[in-house]
Formats: sequence, C-alpha cells, structure tokens
Amino acid sequence: MVYHNAGASVWLSLALSPFLAASPALARTVGPRDPVPDGFHAAPYYPTPYGGWLDSWKDAYTKAEALVSQMTLAEKTNITSGTGIFMGPCVGNTGSIDRLGFPQLCFQDSALGVASADNVTAFPPGITTGATWDKSLMYARAVAIGKEFRGKGTNVHLGPTVGPLGRKPLGGRNWEGFGADPVLQAKAAALHIQGVQEQGIIATIKHYIGNEQEMYRMYNPLQPGYSANIDDRTLHELYLWPFAEAVHAGVGAVMTAYNAVNGSASSQHSHLINGILKDELGFQGMVMSDWLSHISGVDSALAGLDMNMPGDTNIPLFGFSLWQYELTRSVLNGSVPVDRLNDMATRVVATWYQMNQDKDHPRPNFSSNTRDRDGLLYPAALLSPVGQVNWFVNVQDDHAQIARQVAQDAITLLKNEDNALPLSGSSKITVFGTDAQVNSDGPNACLNRACNKGTLGMGWGSGVADYPYFDDPISAIKKRVSDVEFHNSDSFPLIFDTPADDEIAVVFISSDAGENSFTVEGNHGDRDSAKLAAWHNGDQLVQRAAAKFKTVIVVVHTVGPLILEPWIDLPSVKAVLFAHLPGQEAGESLTNVLFGDVSPSGHLPYSITKSATDYPDSIANLRGFALGQVQDTYSEGLYIDYRYLNKQSTPPRFAFGHGLSYTTFSFTNATITPVTTPLSLIPPARQPKGSTPSYSTALPPASEAYYPDNFTPIWRYLYSWLHKPEADSAHAIGAAGTKKYDYPDGYSTEQKPGPAAGGAEGGNPALWDVAWEVSVVVTNTGKEHKGKASVQAYVQFPEGIPYDTPTVQLRDFEKTGELAPGESETVKVVLTRKDVSVWDVELQNWVLPGAATEAANKGYTVWIGEGSDRLFLACRTEGGSCEEGLEGPGA
Ligand SMILES: *[C@@H]1O[C@H](CO)[C@@H](O)[C@H](O)[C@H]1NC(C)=O
Ligand SMILES: *[C@@H]1O[C@H](CO)[C@@H](O)[C@H](O)[C@H]1NC(C)=O
Ligand SMILES: *[C@@H]1O[C@H](CO)[C@@H](O)[C@H](O)[C@H]1NC(C)=O
Ligand SMILES: *[C@@H]1O[C@H](CO)[C@@H](O)[C@H](O)[C@H]1NC(C)=O
Ligand SMILES: *[C@@H]1O[C@H](CO)[C@@H](O)[C@H](O)[C@H]1NC(C)=O
Ligand SMILES: *[C@@H]1O[C@H](CO)[C@@H](O)[C@H](O)[C@H]1NC(C)=O
Repeated sequence: MVYHNAGASVWLSLALSPFLAASPALARTVGPRDPVPDGFHAAPYYPTPYGGWLDSWKDAYTKAEALVSQMTLAEKTNITSGTGIFMGPCVGNTGSIDRLGFPQLCFQDSALGVASADNVTAFPPGITTGATWDKSLMYARAVAIGKEFRGKGTNVHLGPTVGPLGRKPLGGRNWEGFGADPVLQAKAAALHIQGVQEQGIIATIKHYIGNEQEMYRMYNPLQPGYSANIDDRTLHELYLWPFAEAVHAGVGAVMTAYNAVNGSASSQHSHLINGILKDELGFQGMVMSDWLSHISGVDSALAGLDMNMPGDTNIPLFGFSLWQYELTRSVLNGSVPVDRLNDMATRVVATWYQMNQDKDHPRPNFSSNTRDRDGLLYPAALLSPVGQVNWFVNVQDDHAQIARQVAQDAITLLKNEDNALPLSGSSKITVFGTDAQVNSDGPNACLNRACNKGTLGMGWGSGVADYPYFDDPISAIKKRVSDVEFHNSDSFPLIFDTPADDEIAVVFISSDAGENSFTVEGNHGDRDSAKLAAWHNGDQLVQRAAAKFKTVIVVVHTVGPLILEPWIDLPSVKAVLFAHLPGQEAGESLTNVLFGDVSPSGHLPYSITKSATDYPDSIANLRGFALGQVQDTYSEGLYIDYRYLNKQSTPPRFAFGHGLSYTTFSFTNATITPVTTPLSLIPPARQPKGSTPSYSTALPPASEAYYPDNFTPIWRYLYSWLHKPEADSAHAIGAAGTKKYDYPDGYSTEQKPGPAAGGAEGGNPALWDVAWEVSVVVTNTGKEHKGKASVQAYVQFPEGIPYDTPTVQLRDFEKTGELAPGESETVKVVLTRKDVSVWDVELQNWVLPGAATEAANKGYTVWIGEGSDRLFLACRTEGGSCEEGLEGPGA
C-alpha cells in the first residue's frame, strides 16, 4: 500500500487529478473484464463462494449471521469499505454500526511493527527474519508484533508479506518478505499469522499476487498496472504456496496486489479471488484491496472483493468511492446481488468474531497522521474537528530483546579466511563507511525511511515503522574496543598511512530498496538505478581498504543480493557478514557476532550469483515502460533462484541457504520413517461444504439507504447512504428488473460444490498429512565455540516421472539450540503429502508422481544439509535408508 502519510505521491496524484476526479466514473479505468495477453487466460469464476462452510470458523459465522441479519442495507455497505484516506487514526478505517455495537475497524501498517506511531519497536524486516531460519524466533517476533498492534488499539495488522516472493533480485519490496523460496516464505508467514492472531489481531497476507516488481504496478487513468503472466503450475508451486499455507494457518485477511495477473487487475480477478482463494483454498476471511487500487464497483464485488481500502476511488481525497454509497446503489438497482453483499458483510464480521474482537478490544490510541498529542480528527476533510489523537501508549515491553535476537541470529557469515573472525578486540580497528553510524539527522528523518543515510535498518515505503531509538554499529564497536578510528565517509581517505599488519579494517556498505511511491537516489522502489552494486561506491571503498589493510571485514546491510565479485576474492578481504536489515537493534547484535560472544548462525534467504546475467532476462531485469499494459511474463516457470542455477549448472558465488559458523557441525544417525502409508496418487475425496448463513435475498427497501434526517456530513467523508431521490430511482431499476447490468462473460449466481483440490483451509486437508519424517543428530564438532546449526531439508523427485521438477526444493527446516562443543541435538523435519506432490494442470489437483510410476511411493530423496549447495546427507524413501558423506546434487 501507499500514501499512509501526506507524502509526496499523494500530492503528485492530486496534480494529475482535478479534471479526472471531477467524475467518479472516470476514475474507473477498465471495462468489466480487461483484455488478456496472448497465451494467458484469466478464466471467469462466479459466483463468490459463501463463507462459513468450515467447522474451524463455525462459531464466528454463527455469531456473524445473528448480527448481519439485523443490519440495514446502508449498515452492511458501511462495514465493507473505508471511510476515506486520512479520515481517521489508522491507514484504513471502516464505517461502524453504532446501533449494533460494531466498531470502526482500524487497519494499520506494517509487517515489521506498528507504522507511524511512537513508543513501538522497529523490528527487523521479513528478509532478516527469514535469514534466521529459526521458527521459534519467527513466532516470538510475531507474538511481540501482535501485542504492539493490540496495545495501540488496531484491529487489522497489514502483514505478513510473501508477495513479492523474491523472483527478481532487483524487486523493490523483497525485503518485506522472508526470502526467495515458497517454503521459507510459507513457514515464516504461517508462524507470523499464528503469533499475531493469538493476540486477537487479524493478520493480512499480501499482496495477492504476482507483485514481483514495483515499477508500473499501479492502475492510473492513463495506464493499467503491469500484468504478471503466470501459468497455473508455477502459480500453485511457487507464488500461491505461501498464501495457501497462510490460509491453512487461519489467516483472517488477504490483500490483493496492485498489478494485474494474466491481464486482469488483481482487485477484480474472479479466477484468483472467487476461484482459487475462496473455493480451492477455502478462505473464510475477508479480501481487501491494496490502498487506492479499487477500480471497479460492481465487478470487484462480483469477483470476490469484500473490503475496499481506504475507501476512495484510485484518485483519493475528493470524497468519491466506488463502494460505500455506490455499493448501496448497486444493490438497490439489482446489479450486485443482495446475497453477495450479505456474504461480504458476514465475512468482515465473522473475521472480527474469529479473533474475539467483540470482547474488550481496545480502540486506537494513536494517529498515523501526526505525532503530536492533538490533531485533526479527519485531516482529509480540511475543515475537521481537532482533538487528542495520540496517547503515547508505550507498547515496547521487552521486545527489543526479541528484535536484537532476530537481528543477531540472522547475521550470515559468507566467508571467513584464516579465522579472521571473531575479532579478539585487542587490535586496533578502523571503521569505514557512513552505514556504520545512525543518520545524523535522526533515524526517522526521512519520511517513510525514503533515504539511505546512515545505518540501513529497513527499506522504504509503507512497510516501515518509526525507530524509538537506534543502536548503531559504531557505538556498539566503541563499547568493545578502546582503539577505534572511524571514517564516517564512503570515500577512502586520499592520504592514509599504511596500517600495521595486525590492524583491522571493518567496512560498512549497503543497498536499499522500497516501494514505488518514493524514488531514492534514482531508484524507483526497485533497484533500477543502483542494480546489484553497493550504494555510494561501496564496492570501491572495500577495494581501497583491501589495498591498504591486511585484514578487511566487510559488513553488508542490504535488502537483497549484491554482486560481490569486485572484491570478494581479494586476499585481504578475509570475512564478509551479511547483517541484512537489522531494524533498531543494529549495533549490539552485530558486535555479539563480531567479537565472538555468539557464533553467526544466519543463512542466506536467496542466492548470490556471480553475475546478474546468471539468471534469464525474465528474472534478471525489470520490465520497462511500454505503451499500454506492461507485460511481465514468468517464462522461467518454476526456475527461480537456486532452482534456476541448479538447472543450468551455474554455481552461485554463495548459494541459497549458505551460512558459516565459528564452529562446525556434523549431521549423523539420520533415519527416515514413513508416516502416512500408503499415499494414493491424488488426495482422498474432500468433504462436501458445510452449511452457510442464510438471509433473505429480497431487494431491500430504498428507505434502508436514506440519509438520516438532519444529518451533517463531514466534508468528503465517505458514507454509505444515498439521498432519497437517488435511492428511490435505483430501487425502481432493481425492482423492475428490466435494465440489466453488463455482466462479465461466464457470470453465474449458482454456488458450486468446490473443486477436488479444496475441502478445508488451504486446500484438501490430506495435503498436510505427513508423508515422511526424517530425524538427524546434529553435533557441534568444534573445540572452541558454541553455535546454532541450521538443518535444511530439500526434496528431490523420483527419476522418470512425467513432470519436470527442479533438482531440489526446500521443504522444511529447523534450527538447533546453542550447542556447546561436543553437544548434540536430535532434529526432526517432515515432508507432507503436498511437499512430495506436483500440481497437475489437467487434473487440477496435487498428484504424487512417486505413486504414478510402478514403484509406488518410492524414489524420492530427502537431502539434508546446511545450505542448498551443502547437502551431504541423503535419505531415500525407497528402502528407507540414509547415507552420509555425499556430494549434494546442487550446482
Ligand atoms: C493464466 O493463464 C494461464 C495460461 O492460460 C493459465 O494456466 C493460468 O491458470 C492463468 N492464471 C490466472 C490466475 O488467471
Ligand atoms: C457508517 O460509519 C460512520 C463512521 O463510523 C458513521 O458515522 C455512520 O453513522 C455509519 N453509517 C451507518 C449507516 O451506520
Ligand atoms: C489505548 O490502548 C490501551 C490498551 O493498550 C487502552 O487501555 C486505552 O484505553 C487506549 N486508549 C484510548 C484513548 O483509547
Ligand atoms: C447500478 O449502480 C452501479 C453503481 O453506480 C452502476 O455501476 C450500475 O451500472 C448500475 N446498474 C444499473 C442496472 O443501472
Ligand atoms: C513515549 O511515551 C512517553 C510516555 O510514556 C512519552 O513521554 C514520550 O513522548 C513518548 N515518545 C515519543 C517518541 O513520543
Ligand atoms: C549414532 O549411531 C551410532 C551407531 O551407529 C552410535 O554408536 C551413536 O551413539 C549414535 N549417536 C547418537 C548421538 O545418537
């Protein structure tokens, strides 16, 4: 989402808008269904499946039905839309039904902490969390985030982010998610959702789907958003995977993407929302638009959207909406069936009940619009009442410790020649680079962190939070070592005396990215200008330091991969630490590793190639400007990141999953056990759908839409009422039933039984049956250092199956506790039926290719190791034995 502050882009779109915004109709930039690019097809899927047919949501739906059945037409439409941007304390604020005690719901950024608020924790972003490969930390961080969202009185947390998945290294928002692999994203997202929702906060998985680059993502009156053209199998096996796991984890909300998929905008894509999300994945919660991406009223409702955020058309601040009063009209005139509106309202209310928000849920006690105590209650109204908007509730508790642990355990040691690390602390240290010290203007000086000045703790855009303070690396280093010299510059000094042999240089470099609503140093969200080089001539800074010093340690704060070739093999570049994006706890988390209090235990959540062109054009490059709709075709299919490099036998510089330690580990005594046997070719037949709430489908009387008598509106606030003459004339059209809406092709109002691949939250429940369990003993074989090991399990499909599959694919991971030298821990990883299946496009189901061949259920190899290129242990499902000391199958 964008525009949560009165930032530059809002005023930019205002400059464009006076003539366009004069009529809300003109804000609608597409027809009922958009044209579809060659070779791709956005098949219609109607109607929207009713929510409520699953036991796991039964109680919430029963309560919701009781409440919704008392609502008038204008009350139902009031709760399916925001009341307008900057029309309340949060980035999104729905209407309320005061009569029935249903409050305005507060929707708030971001995935890493409460955005635009004081006294919160600025946690490390998703990419850093992914780099820990530690499920307990993923969960602990989420619990803390959920508590802070609750403490500030929000209802809906706009996270986690798993789209972008990280297909393009240059993509601007990859750092908000957990890494370039569907399983890493999925497991982290599921734990995030669990942790947040246990605090009674609705989590939102986003952005659904194909939002793999920032540039040209949005629809505007002159150009549609780009089209991500994705084939069905690639969608299921890569991009949909984390969304399916999120639904399986019970996520309450899904946010659609700005871009189109197969030519059709995500916010009105019936195949994606009605078909895949609500029928195949059985999603019972609410689907919201991304901020200001709502471009059709009737069509988006029919396609399955339930919530328009923040309520405006895609040109905000003029008091126009395609829902609210227009949705009221669309129901009265018969275009949107009453039962669709009932389902929309029920989904919203059921999600609220599902998280127990009917019981003592706090109200917002902060404002996104100002940090002052008092402020405008409705800033977009211009003439707004003023009152207290910030109560400065401190929600930080002891969460800094969790933030620091995540930042620390994410730090990834890529190289460590001659055991240069850990540092003893006795040698003189010279620190280079502006990235070592907090922004001298203050850590929050740049709106939405849209600058790269000082230590880079997070990317920019809506996915940020304000730092309550910033623990920077240079302060933490100075606490450890008395003899520190700091050059707060990204240029190496022109004159520099040759240091003594034992002096150490620590060079800080960075690479930033963010959301397309801001341009930073020529980068339009994506890294379109800097590409994969360090910013501020950082590569040259390392080279210059390496020319003078015998020992150079490089610390990298980055949103994603960089090309390290300019210096990685220089003899004096002894060690490299990727500290990713540490959030507020950048200092001590780093020195704990630098000086050996702990061993580094992070592992790369993406591959680092030797050259950008080691990937095909479709991955390596951003799609540039085109007349009409920019096309982003996923021609590489399943082959992104290590899947592609393995297929091409292109060794990366550092592989996905790579990460060194100060100690070493052995993986021994592995066993593989079949759990659910035998497994059939396809999952057993699903259960039929359970019952859903039922309401009268009669056209509501026009009077349910009338403005109340003597009502004084707030200027430009979005209301769900119509003036009497408008309501009456819409009702006349609906009652006559003669003037028909121009429905999209394939439109139908008949509920379907649901596809075979569905049946429960996330899909057919048998997909989560455990197929095999692998256990392995991990031992710290070092002499000196304690350390945590990452255990990664990759599946290799059987030979000779009729499906092309990547060489290996991550399927599970675990991290050990801190093991002392000689200490062991037994670790278990599991493979579910889904983990050993492929999506069969013809059958429209998950198929077990191991069962399709003669050797039923056989021939899978489960590779275990410390990285996608360090898989030295293999367990075979055929024969059930495990073998050590192998050379893995990777590039
Ligand atoms: C996109 O088009 C391809 C090719 O027709 C099809 O396999 C896929 O299901 C479509 N996906 C969506 C989301 O419409
Ligand atoms: C819609 O919500 C707004 C904001 O809470 C409220 O002022 C208005 O009365 C609500 N309308 C209806 C129909 O309840
Ligand atoms: C803010 O939230 C807290 C709970 O964290 C609650 O006790 C308090 O009443 C809220 N303040 C306001 C002004 O609503
Ligand atoms: C009903 O109202 C909606 C919203 O204004 C409009 O888009 C639609 O065309 C109308 N339908 C008819 C049949 O007039
Ligand atoms: C945090 O809350 C305290 C009161 O607990 C307040 O004095 C302080 O100003 C707040 N911090 C910020 C940055 O607003
Ligand atoms: C591993 O297995 C061997 C025998 O195969 C046994 O001697 C050893 O104790 C086992 N180690 C652990 C840690 O279980």
